[in-house]
Amino acid sequence: MIHMNAKTIGVGTTAVLVLIYFLVAVGPRYTDPEGYAPADTHRSRTALEDEGRKLYIAYGCQYCHSQYLRQGDWGLGAERIAEAGDYAGDYAPQLGSSRNGPDLSQEGGEHSDDWHFAHFYNPRWTRPESIMPPFDYLRPEETKALTAYVQSLGHKLADERVARQWKWRKEAIAAYEAGVDENVEWLHANVPEGWLRVPNPYPITPVSFKRGETIYQRHCIGCHGPVGDGQGPAAAFIYPPPLNFTTLRRHGIEGGATGGMLYYQIMNGITGTAMPYFKRELESEKIWDVSNYVAKQFIGVVDANAEPKGIDAAFEPVEPAPAPPAL
Ligand code: HEC
Ligand code: HEC
Repeated sequence: MIHMNAKTIGVGTTAVLVLIYFLVAVGPRYTDPEGYAPADTHRSRTALEDEGRKLYIAYGCQYCHSQYLRQGDWGLGAERIAEAGDYAGDYAPQLGSSRNGPDLSQEGGEHSDDWHFAHFYNPRWTRPESIMPPFDYLRPEETKALTAYVQSLGHKLADERVARQWKWRKEAIAAYEAGVDENVEWLHANVPEGWLRVPNPYPITPVSFKRGETIYQRHCIGCHGPVGDGQGPAAAFIYPPPLNFTTLRRHGIEGGATGGMLYYQIMNGITGTAMPYFKRELESEKIWDVSNYVAKQFIGVVDANAEPKGIDAAFEPVEPAPAPPAL
């Protein structure tokens, strides 16, 4: 018969704590990291990527980022559910427990290297509302190693995405260096024909215009700049640089400055360049709203609610809305 007195409680608590310590802190040291078969998509890291992994741990990235996706995370657009074999050879696997930031297990190839350089220097330049701290004190070699590491996350799947980034990057740079008009022609030649002919289905109302402006400030301003000339603070890190929207003026709707073109580019991003895709972050209506905002505010060529149009959306004002204030 055990009596619940101060002594038994003290000894019991200590015993439980010691047991937990051995299970959680000491035990894993003696499990064999090679002991489970690597997943099909697994590959080992290069020396530079290993360097980056050390920095990842040293700078505490794992306090905010996880590296495993569960079934329940699929709604976020996850590419792959994590398996034990994804971590073969890792001591300790950087699973992380806190998801203050997005899961990074499939981060490789999601963005181009220049996006990461700008993002590490100041996350708010590429994502204006980010709470990730700036790592502007890293030496250039450190930024390179960290970028190599995050680009390797996802192993062989990441390699495929990274290869795609580099393939398009070469073309994007060649187009940019050929000249301003050539670049726009190249950009629009890669937008499927149908999208180039679709006008923005929504009229510009004062409210939708304001919404478009807010979305622009929350997602685009760090690269494309407050006046849409591509001179946001991130531009210093980005090549080819963020598009200057005012150059689209002379191309007009026939040259592809349509609502549909804007929608397609914003939804899908431009692989190989720092232009990210927004299909996971912005709902359809928000993409149309920010497209109308960019068209009216910076390009000055607007096809909102133009023919051909379908059945009006139920939420649209019955009376033609007054034009938004001239800015
Ligand atoms: C205080 C928490 C925090 C810390 C520490 C942190 N991050 Fe982040 N990170 C975030 C948040 C929040 C986001 C989402 C917003 C953004 O993109 O900045 C993010 C985004 C990212 C992304 C972009 C993911 C994507 O594709 O959208 C990468 C890559 C990244 N972090 C890497 C790192 C690395 C490497 C470190 C350590 C050097 C680090 N983070 C430290 C919170 C953090
Ligand atoms: C991290 C930087 C970055 C962010 C953030 C960004 N862009 Fe871009 N964007 C670019 C770059 C770089 C290009 C051009 C690449 C080129 O010239 O090859 C581009 C091109 C575009 C184009 C292509 C235009 C055309 O004629 O084909 C559109 C439209 C666009 N951006 C809209 C947006 C909108 C809207 C947002 C916010 C929701 C946004 N971008 C956020 C960097 C960015």
